[in-house]
Amino acid sequence: MPKHHPLSDTKTLRAQARKHIDQGSVTAGYSADRAKVLQLLNDALATELVCVLRYRRHHFMARGIHSQSVAQEFLEHSNEEQAHADMLAERIVQLGGAPDFAPDGLTARSHAEYVEGKTLASMVRENLVAERIAIDSYRELIIYLGENDPTTRRCVETILAVEEEHADELADLLVTIPDKAFAEPKARK
Ligand SMILES: [Fe+2]
Ligand SMILES: [Fe+2]
Repeated sequence: MPKHHPLSDTKTLRAQARKHIDQGSVTAGYSADRAKVLQLLNDALATELVCVLRYRRHHFMARGIHSQSVAQEFLEHSNEEQAHADMLAERIVQLGGAPDFAPDGLTARSHAEYVEGKTLASMVRENLVAERIAIDSYRELIIYLGENDPTTRRCVETILAVEEEHADELADLLVTIPDKAFAEPKARK
């Protein structure tokens, strides 16, 4: 049986809105655990930032092995992860929190890892692993949020859809790339 939430009358809505006005968009009707949501969003932010850096590194290294199309793909993903980081930071501030951009402990806060990868194939594989980690953690976050914070949920759902596209593109790339394309610069004489 679904739980019925009674609709508030206008008088109650107006009175509630005047209380705790310093909390901005966070009203009395906000039913999620705000501290917990902020923590989870900051973990997701750390994950996105690590992904920005890993894709950036891979972009420049792939360029070095003359793989322009893969390098371009890595750059696009890096930029999209940066956009996700910005969306999360913005939502954290709306919820009255502070986004954690501290480089110290970034990889520990992140779900995904920073793996450099020696070959083009290993870079693609590491990125695919990271995307799959992000997909699972965002899906769990969406389920956790449920109906208690629809705006955060919508934000995370938008990000999740892009991570699924990323994973799909990487899976396509993986089948086309030989394992021998090394990223290590050739030793100079
Ligand atoms: Fe992302
Ligand atoms: Fe992604």
